[in-house]
Amino acid sequence: MTNPAGGYFAWRGGRLFAEDAALDDIADAVGTPFYCYSAAALEDAYRAFAGAFAGSGALVAYSVKANPNRAVIATLARLGAGADVVSEGEIRRALAAGIAPRDIVFSGVGKTRAEISFALSRGVVHLNAESEPELALISEAAAALGATARVALRINPGVGAGGHDKISTGRRGDKFGVAIDRAPALFRRAAALPGIAADGVDLHIGSQIVDLAPFRRAFGKAAALVRGLRAEGFGIERLDLGGGLGIRYGAETPPGPAEYAAAVREATAGLGCRLVLEPGRAIAGNAGVLVASVVYEKREYGRRFVIVDAGMNDLMRPALYGSAHGIASLTAPAPGAPESPADAVGPVCESGDTFASGVMLPPLAAGDRIAFFSAGAYGAAMASTYNSRLLVPEVMVSGARRAVVRPRMSYETLLARDRLPDWLRTDTEETRRRA
Ligand code: LLP
Repeated sequence: MTNPAGGYFAWRGGRLFAEDAALDDIADAVGTPFYCYSAAALEDAYRAFAGAFAGSGALVAYSVKANPNRAVIATLARLGAGADVVSEGEIRRALAAGIAPRDIVFSGVGKTRAEISFALSRGVVHLNAESEPELALISEAAAALGATARVALRINPGVGAGGHDKISTGRRGDKFGVAIDRAPALFRRAAALPGIAADGVDLHIGSQIVDLAPFRRAFGKAAALVRGLRAEGFGIERLDLGGGLGIRYGAETPPGPAEYAAAVREATAGLGCRLVLEPGRAIAGNAGVLVASVVYEKREYGRRFVIVDAGMNDLMRPALYGSAHGIASLTAPAPGAPESPADAVGPVCESGDTFASGVMLPPLAAGDRIAFFSAGAYGAAMASTYNSRLLVPEVMVSGARRAVVRPRMSYETLLARDRLPDWLRTDTEETRRRA
């Protein structure tokens, strides 16, 4: 298959490499399944994105939710990235990875008072507020700490966009932000609140957007709002345009960072706002693969099922969004080996645990390894222990070097997460005695 990740994951001498490390060597060392990230792919994607905004003073705030591994954040932090975060956990990860509080933007539709206070107490003062009650809560929390929160109001521009209904966020009726026509009233309200400087406008219309048109429409509306607010006397200094730029999983042809940046420049020309961009997928998506082993191959109902040791708990995107990740064998099939249509499925007890249906795959036997491409964003980040399966390791490669940047979870850790209530503990002792 064509590899959307380009040269960072490529075949050499019949073996699939991550940069200069063969993936089957890594599999021998850490077992399967595992995620593997290419540091160079992360760096190049970040540089391409940030480079497209060079000289504009824009803050490129990597959206930590896409891939929150500290090694990933730290790789980007070294290049000057900021962070877009949506929880106390993400703030802690961003700070631990070396991102300065002033380069962290705290977004999210349901920030709690505890999270807001935590952010402010750590010097994370740029917050994106999504509602009137949230403005009031930020004000209270900031005033109690004697801090000033620099707040951008997230507006919902009423623009449909995104690769799937579940990741479209800027349509009228979506839960995010405030309706754009109500924004001026909220800025008036915010002006009267202590502890807050409402000096920004924020939006994010969706994810996996592969067409510039919805971006242009939304950015144009935001720019008009900024002009209107300024005419009313509000000092609007920050314009946060969110993330959402799509990547190639298969045949998509998303705009590159340069085209995206040109659309941003065109829409925001003359505003003089400090721009904030929050790319997640565009940085991490094609910087990672998930490697799995074939457990069985079986034929039923005239179908060929390739059952692998990774499941929907490891990579949830196909089950959740019907998304298709490219699949390839780690070793080149013998010349002339016939490909045939197969369903690549996981071991989890749900029919939704299907990575792909009817994809052309080479002959595969138990123990053979395959890679799912484009799994660097929203892969490990969304993994769970469903079916009491262990979270899989994450490995980062840089040239020929590799490091386990998250070890495989152990069964001890899995079991130790639960506690028995005292009324069951006696039973258990009883049971043990009986045993
Ligand atoms: N900023 C905000 C406020 C967001 O909500 C998001 C993503 C981003 C930035 C980053 O968007 P990106 O550049 O990655 O498109 N789990 C889904 C994607 C959910 C995106 C949620 N918000 C998936 O696997 O496709």
